[in-house]
Amino acid sequence: MTIHIKNNINWVGQRDWEILDFHGTEYKTTKGTSYNSYLIREQKNVLIDTVDHRFSLQFIQNLEMEIDLDKIDYIVINHAEEDHSGALAALMAKIPNTPIYCTENAIDSITGLHHHPEWNFNIVKTGDSLDIGNGKQLVFIETPMLHWPDSMMTYLTEDAVLFSNDAFGQHYCDERLFNDEVDQIELMDQCLRYYSNILTPFSSLVIAKIHEVLSFNLPVDMIATAHGVVWRDNPTQIIHQYLQWADNYQEDRITIFYDSMSNNTRLMADAIAQGIHDVDPGVSVKVFNVARHDKNDILANVFRSKGILVGSSTMNNVMMPKIAGMLEEITGLRFKNKKAGAFGSYGWNGGAVDRIHTRLTDAGFETTVGLKTKWKPDGKAMRECREHGRQIAKSWALHDLSNVDSISSTLTQYKPVKVAEVKTPTTQASCASTTSSDDKQDMLCTVCNWVYQPVLGEPNQDVQPGTPWCEVPDFFLCPDCGLGKEVFVPIAARKAS
Ligand code: FEO
Repeated sequence: MTIHIKNNINWVGQRDWEILDFHGTEYKTTKGTSYNSYLIREQKNVLIDTVDHRFSLQFIQNLEMEIDLDKIDYIVINHAEEDHSGALAALMAKIPNTPIYCTENAIDSITGLHHHPEWNFNIVKTGDSLDIGNGKQLVFIETPMLHWPDSMMTYLTEDAVLFSNDAFGQHYCDERLFNDEVDQIELMDQCLRYYSNILTPFSSLVIAKIHEVLSFNLPVDMIATAHGVVWRDNPTQIIHQYLQWADNYQEDRITIFYDSMSNNTRLMADAIAQGIHDVDPGVSVKVFNVARHDKNDILANVFRSKGILVGSSTMNNVMMPKIAGMLEEITGLRFKNKKAGAFGSYGWNGGAVDRIHTRLTDAGFETTVGLKTKWKPDGKAMRECREHGRQIAKSWALHDLSNVDSISSTLTQYKPVKVAEVKTPTTQASCASTTSSDDKQDMLCTVCNWVYQPVLGEPNQDVQPGTPWCEVPDFFLCPDCGLGKEVFVPIAARKAS
């Protein structure tokens, strides 16, 4: 089955109604997905991306009904992940000499996944173009880390269609392909879920890349993604939405998530939530049990929140494992501009709250005082939890709450705990404490493996040779993936881990 997109462009992709998991089982797909592949027929015939390897046979059969495969002149692979290049091996078995256009990084990924270094690869860089006849060209734009180092977008001139691959897509499946045809609430929910769970760590890169694309002043009549809808109605709406999400996004929302051995930490969560609502009925408060609720939904709510409260019972003097897993994931997603606090019930030692507080601080959250309750909270403890919520609501308020004093602070005995800092080794060098050997310390970008060498500096960003890492300015960006200093670690630290 094919769907006409515009002029000589057809969708030749694959719908996947049944899929429940992506990236192992880390991303739950609640509305299916699609793998969008496009066939352009001008004087040259071009295939943009393929589909997931599980659908190779179906894809080839479908494509053969549309075109004699020998008549495909070029294949463009915008991104090598197997949901897009998976069917390439089956296709290349039929048309083995067809030129493949992709980034240099993609050759590594495609070869690593398919083991065919002999394929006819043609490296493209940002600004390169390919003439496909009838006055039309494909223009390539590298978009490293959206979503892999190999990613790029392809723009078709004259038709003004941007084939954006993962960017601007969503895991969403509907018989209708265009954005104006589908349920708008479902669509935007899935866009946000996709952005918050997959693209958040690369937000600074998203902004830089979008501004780079906009600087070309190319008209955009459609954005043809690799998952979900084709944006044809007001297509740049999703670009502007991405710019908003990438810019330290937050709403007037607080997310509370916890795990609870004996329901005691859950009781605390409920009371804290009520306390927040007492003081600020306008703030949206969402409460989740990590053992029972969808992880990606929780993370989407964290993304939308101005602050989070994380609770755990203390078990063996540490936090419960599902909370530890969530904190690891939150650390990787590198949320910015958010506040956080820890809470939890304990019997002998409240180590979980201390550890959560430290993990939240290390993950870049602005942490506030925590709250511990010994055993099952009694009436007094529940009032303390509620008052804790009231204090959080006041200190995190985004608007005037000048009338709250009449509502709150009836509990003079309320004493939040000053959470003990659990020291963890730091990976960042500090100028104040550097030694001469620190001055020569090479730093590794943990995202793309680019290495900063003080002896070379980074003259393109006015960092002169001989500049130690601690003197590299905070606005420095990795020249390969565009991420900031926070993703760099000393080479020795990386090797030791
Ligand atoms: Fe849809 Fe990064 O693959």
